[in-house]
Amino acid sequence: MCGIVGYIGSRDVSTTLIEGLRLLEYRGYDSAGIAVAATGGEISMRKRAGRLANLEGVLGELPTGSIAGIAHTRWATHGAPTDLNAHPHMDEHGEIAIIHNGIIENYAELQRELTAKGHTLSSDVDTEVIAHLIEDAYQGDIRLAVAAVLPRLHGQWALVVMHRGEPGRIIAARREAPLAVGLGEGEQFLASDPVAILEHTNKIVFLRDGDLADLQRGGITLYDAAGAKFAPKVETITWDGAAARKEGYDHFMRKEMDEQPRALSAAMLGRVSVDGVAISELDAIAPALAAARSIEVVACGSAYYASLTAATLAERLLRVPVRVTVASEFRYDPPALGPTSLVIAVSQSGETADTLGAVRTAKAAGATVLAIVNAAGSSLTREADAVVLLQAGTEISVAATKSYTSQALVTLLVTLDLARRAGALTAEDLRSWSTELLTIPAMASAALDSSDALPAIAKKYFGSSGFMFVSRGAGIATAFEGALKLKELAYIHAEGIAAGEMKHGPISLLGADHPVVAVVLNSSVLPKLVSNLMESRARSAPVIAILSGVDDWSTFATDAVVIPAARPEIAALIATIPLQRFSYEMALLAGADIDQPKNLAKSVTVE
Ligand code: G6P
Repeated sequence: MCGIVGYIGSRDVSTTLIEGLRLLEYRGYDSAGIAVAATGGEISMRKRAGRLANLEGVLGELPTGSIAGIAHTRWATHGAPTDLNAHPHMDEHGEIAIIHNGIIENYAELQRELTAKGHTLSSDVDTEVIAHLIEDAYQGDIRLAVAAVLPRLHGQWALVVMHRGEPGRIIAARREAPLAVGLGEGEQFLASDPVAILEHTNKIVFLRDGDLADLQRGGITLYDAAGAKFAPKVETITWDGAAARKEGYDHFMRKEMDEQPRALSAAMLGRVSVDGVAISELDAIAPALAAARSIEVVACGSAYYASLTAATLAERLLRVPVRVTVASEFRYDPPALGPTSLVIAVSQSGETADTLGAVRTAKAAGATVLAIVNAAGSSLTREADAVVLLQAGTEISVAATKSYTSQALVTLLVTLDLARRAGALTAEDLRSWSTELLTIPAMASAALDSSDALPAIAKKYFGSSGFMFVSRGAGIATAFEGALKLKELAYIHAEGIAAGEMKHGPISLLGADHPVVAVVLNSSVLPKLVSNLMESRARSAPVIAILSGVDDWSTFATDAVVIPAARPEIAALIATIPLQRFSYEMALLAGADIDQPKNLAKSVTVE
């Protein structure tokens, strides 16, 4: 979503900021802007709607010799993605420049108050009110002015602010939106995601909720929510620079799909052996796990579907209610929670606002929170009681691929480990599971190979009026994810439904121009699914089947992609791989922007 980069030092300020924004591009944005401060204090600003290239086109107009700057990629919330609404925003005298990620919920009220006082606000965005409030509060020290304004704001923010009277100083503050400081020698950096600055420094300070940072060239000073100074906790971050390069691929998505065997193997490293599954990260909350009487799983988007894959198995093995809820619903309308509730939050980024909101709701009710996250150091990892990292590596493409299969796998591993701890699986059961789990990377490679059938299938059905993704049992989550992928990547309408529900309405849509995509796994409900597919064929709908452990498909499918045979929870996650390729090929045919689909963001840091 929105990206922030800040810099104070002797490098070329605008080049350093734009390089940082480039590394955040993948998160999704619709306009970009920059403000730089000259030695004498004058602040110059440029902003453009659209791609970063549009902003780069006007950078030459900025004065040279600046010493500090702030830059932003914006994903519109309040106000259309225009030049005017892009960040930074300034007060009417051009003294204060501000960038803000998040939402100011009481901005309309503040706007009225400011207008009544004679301020002229020029944009449609909530952020602008902050610049004017700071202007009113300013008495010669920008830190004190920002600190005075923050209590007046309701909502979420990562804020960075410069004042014309104090060149070489940037104030940063956060509440429920990520912001990190990068420490250099005689230079300091700021970023909403450290990826933007790790090329320059790996010494990172993650700001916590309520923190305020005062950056000057020689160092930083941190203040907590009560205004007390505290010493920075500096973390050294290792960064895989290769993850940010396409390395010969046309798209990050395709590269990340191909990385799945390696990512799935990394997810099992040190956790799965021939004897079973043991996740040491769960030891810290072992008493809470033993006491848990209900399990609530919360997530958004693809992470939500990935979380569904093992949920039924978890309930069957653990004999406690297991519910998976989208975080945006859970946070405001939670189920009955208490000290015997285990809440599992699943997220690639660890920064999704709704998932973090759900976690805070759960913690306030006394529940134990386990996070399954890809991004180490993210907000979710700091707020949870225990963390299991996916180890999938950085994912750049907005559409989740390797993070999805890794999430499905790690939730399955956590399920099996909880069952082991509860004595719900025999040693023999565990060995049988782990023997099959250890073949997952090889199965993923085989699924990538068989996906080479998909360009031709995509071509055959491109132009259809819509697609219905169906399955039964563990495969339903895969059907949901397949439909989501097609919508987000190729902008084609698709619906994911439990196959048994087709006859209650959706079947009306089917016909020669409305194919069914079926996830056909070898399970006890296979005959039921086959009947549903026969019903689809009887209505002339083509059926594209992803088959695991099913040989004879000619009666119910028109096209087939065969993946390895496995038990349903494992086959379900492997079956996602051909569906990723299907959407990828459809998106190519549609001429869509595969790595950055329109209107979407990689990490959704607003509600
Ligand atoms: C966005 C992304 C999705 C992702 C969802 C949840 O919508 O585009 O790919 O599944 O957020 O993100 P998370 O980082 O919490 O897994």
